[in-house]
Amino acid sequence: LSYQIIILAAGQGKRMKSDKNKQFLMLKGKPLIIHTLDIFYQDPYCQSIQLVVNPKEEADIQTLLKEYGYQERIAVVHGGAERQDSVFAGLAACTAEEGIILIHDGARPFVSLENVATLVNKAYEKGAALLAVPVTDTIKRVTESGVTTLDRKELWAAQTPQAFRYSVILHAHKQAKEEGYLGTDDASLVERLNQPVEIVQGSYDNMKLTTPEDVEKAHAILSKYD
Ligand code: CTP
Ligand code: MG
Repeated sequence: LSYQIIILAAGQGKRMKSDKNKQFLMLKGKPLIIHTLDIFYQDPYCQSIQLVVNPKEEADIQTLLKEYGYQERIAVVHGGAERQDSVFAGLAACTAEEGIILIHDGARPFVSLENVATLVNKAYEKGAALLAVPVTDTIKRVTESGVTTLDRKELWAAQTPQAFRYSVILHAHKQAKEEGYLGTDDASLVERLNQPVEIVQGSYDNMKLTTPEDVEKAHAILSKYD
C-alpha cells in the first residue's frame, strides 16, 4: 500500500543545546535528517515526501538534498511556530488529497520499513494508527490531591510515524485549529473527536534525538547495524 509522508524538520532543537540545529548533526558521517530521509526514499511504497523546514534553513537543506542526490518525489515546505503548525503546512502541500498520509519526526532516524508497512495497512483499515512501545518505567500522576500510580499495562509511549487516511487527519487538524487546541502529537487530534486510533507496536530503537545524551544512544544503535 503506497503512502505520502510529511517529515518534520522545522523545529529549533533547543534541548539539544548544539550550535547548529540538531537535524544537521553528523551521525557516522551523515546528517541526522538525511538518515531519516534515506529510510523513506528507498521505500518503493513512498510516493512523495513533504519535507517541512524553517525558512531560514531552507538553503542549507537544499544544499544537503543536492549533495545526497535527492531530486524527485521530494518537496520542501515552510513550517510554523509550533509542531502542529508545521504539520498543517505539510498537509496543505500534499499533492493528492486522498490515500494514506504518514507524519514523521525528522529527528527519528531509526524506524524500520517493516513497522511502517504494518502501520500503513492498519491506517488503511481503521483510519488512524501510530507506532508506540510499552512504557517500561512506573509512571506517577502528581496533582494537588496527591500522588497515584498509573497501571503500567495500559501505558504506551507514542512514537512516529503516525498514519492516517488523508480526510481523517485533515479534518482533525482543521477542527483543532478552529478550536485553538494544541496537541503534542497528531493522533491526539483524532482521539479528541472520538474517532478510532490503533496502536501498532514499534521498536525501542525508534528513538527521537532530543538531548545531548541521545546522540550517544543513537551511535550505539547505528553500531548494531555495522
Ligand atoms: N518540529 C517542526 N516544527 C516546529 C517544531 C518542531 O517541524 N515548529 C519538528 C522538529 O524539527 C522535530 C519534530 O518536530 O523533528 C519533533 O520535535 P522536537 O523533538 O521537539 O524537536 P524541536 O522542536 O526541534 O526541539 P526542541 O523542542 O528541543 O526545541
Ligand atoms: Mg519541540
